[in-house]
Amino acid sequence: MNDNLDGSSPTRGVSAIAPKEGGGFPNPGLAPHVHRQADSDKRAERRAERVVAGLFLLSVLGTAVFIAAYFLVTPTGTNIFAEEGSTRAVWWSNLITGLGLAIAVFFIGAAAVHWAKTLMPDEEMVEERHALRGTDETRQAAAAIITEGLQESGIGRRPLIVTTMVAALAALPIAVLAPLSTLGPLPGNKLHHTFWKAGMRLARDHDGTPIRAADVAMNSIFHVMPEDLTEETEHFLEERAKAAAVIVRIDPALGKNEESLANGHEGILVFSKICTHVGCPVALYEQQTHHMLCPCHQSTFDVTDGAKVIFGPAHRPLPQLPIEVDAEGYLVATGDFPEPIGPSFWDIHKDK
Ligand code: FES
Repeated sequence: MNDNLDGSSPTRGVSAIAPKEGGGFPNPGLAPHVHRQADSDKRAERRAERVVAGLFLLSVLGTAVFIAAYFLVTPTGTNIFAEEGSTRAVWWSNLITGLGLAIAVFFIGAAAVHWAKTLMPDEEMVEERHALRGTDETRQAAAAIITEGLQESGIGRRPLIVTTMVAALAALPIAVLAPLSTLGPLPGNKLHHTFWKAGMRLARDHDGTPIRAADVAMNSIFHVMPEDLTEETEHFLEERAKAAAVIVRIDPALGKNEESLANGHEGILVFSKICTHVGCPVALYEQQTHHMLCPCHQSTFDVTDGAKVIFGPAHRPLPQLPIEVDAEGYLVATGDFPEPIGPSFWDIHKDK
Protein backbone atom coordinates (compact mmCIF):
# COMPACT_ATOMS: atom_id res chain seq x y z
CA MET A 1 0.00 0.00 0.00
CA ASN A 2 2.80 2.36 0.81
CA ASP A 3 4.82 1.88 -2.40
CA ASN A 4 4.92 4.51 -5.09
CA LEU A 5 2.72 3.98 -8.10
CA ASP A 6 5.71 3.09 -10.23
CA GLY A 7 6.76 0.43 -7.72
CA SER A 8 9.73 2.32 -6.33
CA SER A 9 10.17 2.98 -2.63
CA PRO A 10 8.78 6.20 -1.33
CA THR A 11 11.12 8.94 -0.21
CA ARG A 12 10.28 11.43 2.51
CA GLY A 13 10.72 15.15 2.47
CA VAL A 14 11.06 15.65 -1.28
CA SER A 15 11.59 19.38 -1.62
CA ALA A 16 12.08 19.60 -5.37
CA ILE A 17 11.30 17.12 -8.09
CA ALA A 18 13.53 17.05 -11.14
CA PRO A 19 11.70 16.60 -14.46
CA LYS A 20 11.92 13.11 -15.94
CA GLU A 21 13.78 12.61 -19.14
CA GLY A 22 11.30 12.95 -21.98
CA GLY A 23 8.96 15.22 -20.00
CA GLY A 24 6.68 14.84 -17.01
CA PHE A 25 7.59 14.35 -13.39
CA PRO A 26 8.34 11.21 -11.42
CA ASN A 27 5.67 10.10 -9.00
CA PRO A 28 6.74 11.55 -5.62
CA GLY A 29 4.97 8.70 -3.86
CA LEU A 30 3.49 8.70 -0.42
CA ALA A 31 5.28 9.63 2.74
CA PRO A 32 5.96 6.50 4.81
CA HIS A 33 3.23 5.76 7.27
CA VAL A 34 3.94 6.83 10.82
CA HIS A 35 2.02 4.89 13.41
CA ARG A 36 0.31 6.83 16.11
CA GLN A 37 0.73 5.88 19.72
CA ALA A 38 -2.90 4.81 19.97
CA ASP A 39 -2.40 2.39 17.06
CA SER A 40 -0.03 0.22 19.02
CA ASP A 41 -0.52 1.10 22.67
CA LYS A 42 -3.79 0.00 24.27
CA ARG A 43 -3.37 2.43 27.14
CA ALA A 44 -2.87 5.33 24.75
CA GLU A 45 -5.94 4.18 22.84
CA ARG A 46 -8.06 4.18 26.01
CA ARG A 47 -6.66 7.56 26.98
CA ALA A 48 -7.62 9.00 23.60
CA GLU A 49 -11.08 7.49 23.97
CA ARG A 50 -11.51 9.17 27.34
CA VAL A 51 -10.38 12.50 25.91
CA VAL A 52 -12.98 12.26 23.13
CA ALA A 53 -15.67 11.38 25.66
CA GLY A 54 -14.57 14.26 27.86
CA LEU A 55 -14.84 16.70 24.97
CA PHE A 56 -18.37 15.53 24.21
CA LEU A 57 -19.26 15.96 27.90
CA LEU A 58 -17.87 19.50 27.84
CA SER A 59 -20.29 20.15 24.97
CA VAL A 60 -23.16 18.92 27.13
CA LEU A 61 -21.94 21.26 29.86
CA GLY A 62 -21.98 24.19 27.40
CA THR A 63 -25.58 23.38 26.46
CA ALA A 64 -26.52 23.25 30.15
CA VAL A 65 -24.85 26.64 30.73
CA PHE A 66 -26.81 28.13 27.84
CA ILE A 67 -30.14 26.84 29.13
CA ALA A 68 -29.44 27.89 32.71
CA ALA A 69 -28.29 31.34 31.59
CA TYR A 70 -31.33 31.76 29.38
CA PHE A 71 -33.56 31.64 32.44
CA LEU A 72 -31.28 32.95 35.23
CA VAL A 73 -29.25 35.63 33.47
CA THR A 74 -31.93 37.38 31.43
CA PRO A 75 -31.68 40.93 30.05
CA THR A 76 -34.95 42.21 31.53
CA GLY A 77 -36.03 39.67 34.17
CA THR A 78 -34.10 37.51 36.60
CA ASN A 79 -30.38 38.17 36.45
CA ILE A 80 -28.04 36.75 39.08
CA PHE A 81 -25.14 38.99 38.05
CA ALA A 82 -26.65 42.43 37.58
CA GLU A 83 -29.62 44.61 38.37
CA GLU A 84 -32.77 43.67 36.46
CA GLY A 85 -33.20 45.59 33.20
CA SER A 86 -29.80 47.31 33.42
CA THR A 87 -27.28 47.52 30.61
CA ARG A 88 -25.00 45.20 32.59
CA ALA A 89 -27.82 42.66 32.71
CA VAL A 90 -28.01 42.66 28.91
CA TRP A 91 -24.23 42.35 28.74
CA TRP A 92 -24.13 39.39 31.13
CA SER A 93 -27.05 37.70 29.39
CA ASN A 94 -25.41 37.97 25.97
CA LEU A 95 -22.05 36.87 27.33
CA ILE A 96 -23.16 33.77 29.21
CA THR A 97 -25.69 32.50 26.67
CA GLY A 98 -23.23 33.14 23.85
CA LEU A 99 -20.39 31.39 25.67
CA GLY A 100 -22.63 28.43 26.54
CA LEU A 101 -23.67 27.92 22.94
CA ALA A 102 -20.12 28.45 21.67
CA ILE A 103 -18.78 25.85 24.10
CA ALA A 104 -21.51 23.38 23.13
CA VAL A 105 -20.76 23.66 19.43
CA PHE A 106 -16.98 23.95 19.75
CA PHE A 107 -16.51 20.81 21.84
CA ILE A 108 -18.63 18.69 19.53
CA GLY A 109 -16.28 19.73 16.74
CA ALA A 110 -13.19 19.24 18.90
CA ALA A 111 -14.32 15.75 19.94
CA ALA A 112 -15.00 14.76 16.34
CA VAL A 113 -11.57 16.01 15.21
CA HIS A 114 -9.74 14.33 18.09
CA TRP A 115 -11.62 11.08 17.49
CA ALA A 116 -10.69 11.13 13.81
CA LYS A 117 -7.04 12.01 14.44
CA THR A 118 -6.32 9.56 17.22
CA LEU A 119 -8.65 6.61 16.86
CA MET A 120 -10.09 6.41 13.36
CA PRO A 121 -8.09 4.33 10.81
CA ASP A 122 -5.03 6.26 9.68
CA GLU A 123 -3.75 4.67 6.50
CA GLU A 124 -2.70 6.40 3.32
CA MET A 125 -4.48 4.95 0.32
CA VAL A 126 -3.88 5.29 -3.39
CA GLU A 127 -6.78 5.00 -5.77
CA GLU A 128 -6.23 5.16 -9.51
CA ARG A 129 -8.58 7.25 -11.60
CA HIS A 130 -11.30 5.34 -13.28
CA ALA A 131 -14.62 5.89 -14.99
CA LEU A 132 -17.04 7.81 -12.81
CA ARG A 133 -19.38 4.88 -12.41
CA GLY A 134 -17.50 1.89 -11.19
CA THR A 135 -18.16 -1.64 -12.30
CA ASP A 136 -20.39 -3.80 -10.18
CA GLU A 137 -17.30 -5.37 -8.69
CA THR A 138 -15.85 -1.99 -7.66
CA ARG A 139 -19.18 -0.92 -6.22
CA GLN A 140 -19.32 -4.10 -4.19
CA ALA A 141 -15.73 -3.50 -3.15
CA ALA A 142 -16.63 0.06 -2.11
CA ALA A 143 -19.51 -1.24 -0.05
CA ALA A 144 -17.17 -3.72 1.54
CA ILE A 145 -14.66 -0.92 2.30
CA ILE A 146 -17.38 1.18 3.94
CA THR A 147 -18.50 -1.78 5.99
CA GLU A 148 -14.92 -2.49 6.95
CA GLY A 149 -14.38 1.18 7.76
CA LEU A 150 -17.38 1.16 10.04
CA GLN A 151 -16.07 -1.91 11.78
CA GLU A 152 -12.60 -0.44 12.05
CA SER A 153 -13.89 2.85 13.41
CA GLY A 154 -14.94 0.77 16.36
CA ILE A 155 -18.32 2.41 16.82
CA GLY A 156 -19.68 -0.89 18.06
CA ARG A 157 -16.72 -1.35 20.40
CA ARG A 158 -16.73 2.16 21.83
CA PRO A 159 -20.04 2.56 23.61
CA LEU A 160 -18.64 5.35 25.82
CA ILE A 161 -17.88 7.59 22.85
CA VAL A 162 -21.11 6.74 21.07
CA THR A 163 -23.16 7.38 24.22
CA THR A 164 -21.52 10.72 24.96
CA MET A 165 -21.71 11.76 21.30
CA VAL A 166 -25.43 10.98 21.23
CA ALA A 167 -25.85 12.90 24.50
CA ALA A 168 -24.02 15.92 23.07
CA LEU A 169 -25.95 15.89 19.80
CA ALA A 170 -29.27 15.32 21.59
CA ALA A 171 -28.63 18.07 24.13
CA LEU A 172 -27.74 20.74 21.58
CA PRO A 173 -31.22 21.07 20.01
CA ILE A 174 -32.65 21.71 23.48
CA ALA A 175 -30.69 24.97 23.46
CA VAL A 176 -32.57 25.90 20.31
CA LEU A 177 -35.93 24.89 21.78
CA ALA A 178 -35.46 26.79 25.05
CA PRO A 179 -36.15 30.25 23.55
CA LEU A 180 -39.47 28.97 22.19
CA SER A 181 -40.78 28.87 25.75
CA THR A 182 -40.54 32.66 25.98
CA LEU A 183 -42.12 33.62 22.67
CA GLY A 184 -44.73 35.70 24.45
CA PRO A 185 -48.41 35.32 25.22
CA LEU A 186 -50.91 34.09 22.65
CA PRO A 187 -53.05 36.89 21.21
CA GLY A 188 -56.25 35.49 22.75
CA ASN A 189 -59.26 37.46 21.54
CA LYS A 190 -57.32 40.59 20.61
CA LEU A 191 -57.52 39.88 16.90
CA HIS A 192 -61.31 39.60 17.07
CA HIS A 193 -62.07 42.96 18.65
CA THR A 194 -61.20 46.63 18.19
CA PHE A 195 -61.70 49.70 20.37
CA TRP A 196 -65.06 50.52 18.81
CA LYS A 197 -68.06 50.08 21.10
CA ALA A 198 -71.75 50.90 20.90
CA GLY A 199 -72.39 54.61 21.51
CA MET A 200 -68.82 55.70 20.72
CA ARG A 201 -68.71 58.81 18.54
CA LEU A 202 -66.82 58.88 15.27
CA ALA A 203 -64.10 61.53 15.30
CA ARG A 204 -61.85 62.90 12.58
CA ASP A 205 -58.43 61.32 12.63
CA HIS A 206 -55.66 63.69 13.81
CA ASP A 207 -57.79 66.44 15.39
CA GLY A 208 -60.35 64.20 17.16
CA THR A 209 -63.37 66.34 16.26
CA PRO A 210 -66.62 64.38 16.47
CA ILE A 211 -68.48 64.18 13.16
CA ARG A 212 -72.08 65.14 12.54
CA ALA A 213 -73.97 63.35 9.78
CA ALA A 214 -74.55 66.75 8.19
CA ASP A 215 -70.74 67.27 7.94
CA VAL A 216 -70.27 64.34 5.57
CA ALA A 217 -70.56 65.64 2.01
CA MET A 218 -71.71 63.43 -0.85
CA ASN A 219 -68.82 61.45 -2.42
CA SER A 220 -66.40 62.58 0.28
CA ILE A 221 -64.03 60.27 2.14
CA PHE A 222 -62.05 60.84 5.30
CA HIS A 223 -60.41 58.89 8.05
CA VAL A 224 -62.07 58.34 11.40
CA MET A 225 -61.13 57.09 14.84
CA PRO A 226 -63.16 56.41 18.00
CA GLU A 227 -63.52 59.73 19.87
CA ASP A 228 -62.57 58.06 23.17
CA LEU A 229 -59.28 56.72 21.83
CA THR A 230 -56.58 59.04 23.18
CA GLU A 231 -52.86 58.84 23.79
CA GLU A 232 -53.62 57.90 27.39
CA THR A 233 -55.41 54.76 26.22
CA GLU A 234 -53.58 51.57 27.08
CA HIS A 235 -51.80 50.14 24.02
CA PHE A 236 -52.75 53.32 22.16
CA LEU A 237 -50.86 52.62 18.95
CA GLU A 238 -52.11 49.04 18.72
CA GLU A 239 -55.71 50.13 19.30
CA ARG A 240 -55.35 52.97 16.83
CA ALA A 241 -54.01 50.65 14.15
CA LYS A 242 -56.93 48.26 14.61
CA ALA A 243 -59.68 50.88 14.87
CA ALA A 244 -58.67 52.91 11.78
CA ALA A 245 -61.68 53.38 9.49
CA VAL A 246 -62.77 55.44 6.51
CA ILE A 247 -66.10 57.16 6.12
CA VAL A 248 -67.70 57.66 2.71
CA ARG A 249 -71.04 58.98 1.58
CA ILE A 250 -72.80 57.66 -1.49
CA ASP A 251 -76.20 58.27 -2.95
CA PRO A 252 -78.35 55.56 -1.27
CA ALA A 253 -80.02 54.98 -4.64
CA LEU A 254 -76.69 53.58 -5.90
CA GLY A 255 -76.45 51.05 -3.08
CA LYS A 256 -76.62 47.41 -4.17
CA ASN A 257 -76.35 45.90 -0.73
CA GLU A 258 -79.32 46.36 1.59
CA GLU A 259 -77.52 45.10 4.67
CA SER A 260 -74.62 47.48 4.09
CA LEU A 261 -76.98 50.46 3.64
CA ALA A 262 -78.87 49.46 6.78
CA ASN A 263 -75.61 49.52 8.75
CA GLY A 264 -74.95 53.07 7.54
CA HIS A 265 -76.94 56.29 7.75
CA GLU A 266 -78.48 57.85 4.64
CA GLY A 267 -75.62 56.61 2.44
CA ILE A 268 -72.91 57.33 5.01
CA LEU A 269 -70.89 54.13 5.31
CA VAL A 270 -67.89 53.35 7.48
CA PHE A 271 -65.42 50.61 6.59
CA SER A 272 -62.24 49.32 8.17
CA LYS A 273 -59.21 50.96 6.60
CA ILE A 274 -57.08 47.83 6.98
CA CYS A 275 -56.89 45.80 3.77
CA THR A 276 -58.12 42.24 4.13
CA HIS A 277 -55.24 41.04 2.00
CA VAL A 278 -52.15 41.69 4.12
CA GLY A 279 -53.13 44.80 6.02
CA CYS A 280 -52.09 47.89 4.06
CA PRO A 281 -54.20 51.02 4.57
CA VAL A 282 -56.95 51.22 1.96
CA ALA A 283 -57.23 54.92 1.30
CA LEU A 284 -57.64 55.55 -2.42
CA TYR A 285 -61.23 56.33 -3.42
CA GLU A 286 -62.56 56.73 -6.94
CA GLN A 287 -65.51 59.07 -6.69
CA GLN A 288 -66.94 58.15 -10.09
CA THR A 289 -66.95 54.39 -9.61
CA HIS A 290 -67.18 54.34 -5.80
CA HIS A 291 -64.30 51.91 -5.65
CA MET A 292 -61.75 51.91 -2.85
CA LEU A 293 -58.28 50.76 -3.77
CA CYS A 294 -55.46 49.33 -1.75
CA PRO A 295 -52.16 50.79 -2.99
CA CYS A 296 -50.14 47.72 -2.08
CA HIS A 297 -51.48 45.05 -4.44
CA GLN A 298 -54.42 46.86 -6.03
CA SER A 299 -57.23 45.04 -4.28
CA THR A 300 -60.38 46.96 -5.18
CA PHE A 301 -63.50 47.14 -3.03
CA ASP A 302 -66.94 48.23 -4.23
CA VAL A 303 -68.37 50.66 -1.66
CA THR A 304 -71.85 50.45 -3.17
CA ASP A 305 -71.88 46.69 -2.55
CA GLY A 306 -70.70 46.39 1.05
CA ALA A 307 -67.01 46.84 0.06
CA LYS A 308 -66.99 43.51 -1.73
CA VAL A 309 -63.74 42.61 -3.50
CA ILE A 310 -64.03 43.15 -7.25
CA PHE A 311 -60.34 42.90 -8.10
CA GLY A 312 -57.04 41.89 -6.55
CA PRO A 313 -55.75 39.35 -4.09
CA ALA A 314 -57.96 40.24 -1.08
CA HIS A 315 -60.53 37.55 -0.36
CA ARG A 316 -63.17 39.20 1.80
CA PRO A 317 -64.89 42.57 1.98
CA LEU A 318 -63.64 45.31 4.24
CA PRO A 319 -65.53 44.88 7.54
CA GLN A 320 -68.20 47.58 7.94
CA LEU A 321 -68.67 49.50 11.18
CA PRO A 322 -72.40 49.76 12.00
CA ILE A 323 -73.39 53.37 12.78
CA GLU A 324 -76.35 55.56 13.65
CA VAL A 325 -76.91 59.20 14.59
CA ASP A 326 -77.29 60.23 18.24
CA ALA A 327 -79.69 62.82 19.63
CA GLU A 328 -77.24 65.65 18.91
CA GLY A 329 -76.75 64.63 15.29
CA TYR A 330 -73.33 63.04 15.77
CA LEU A 331 -72.40 59.76 14.11
CA VAL A 332 -71.91 56.97 16.66
CA ALA A 333 -71.00 53.31 16.33
CA THR A 334 -73.66 50.81 17.32
CA GLY A 335 -71.01 48.20 18.06
CA ASP A 336 -67.65 46.83 17.02
CA PHE A 337 -66.86 45.58 13.51
CA PRO A 338 -68.89 42.39 13.02
CA GLU A 339 -65.79 40.39 12.13
CA PRO A 340 -62.02 40.73 12.61
CA ILE A 341 -60.38 43.49 10.61
CA GLY A 342 -57.29 43.03 8.46
CA PRO A 343 -55.75 39.89 6.97
CA SER A 344 -57.59 36.63 7.52
CA PHE A 345 -56.23 33.98 9.87
CA TRP A 346 -57.08 30.38 10.56
CA ASP A 347 -59.77 30.82 13.24
CA ILE A 348 -61.15 34.13 12.03
CA HIS A 349 -64.75 33.00 12.51
CA LYS A 350 -64.15 31.46 15.92
CA ASP A 351 -66.53 33.90 17.62
CA LYS A 352 -69.41 33.27 15.22
S1 FES B 1 -52.46 44.60 1.22
FE1 FES B 1 -54.08 45.38 0.10
S2 FES B 1 -53.99 44.37 -1.73
FE2 FES B 1 -52.36 43.53 -0.64
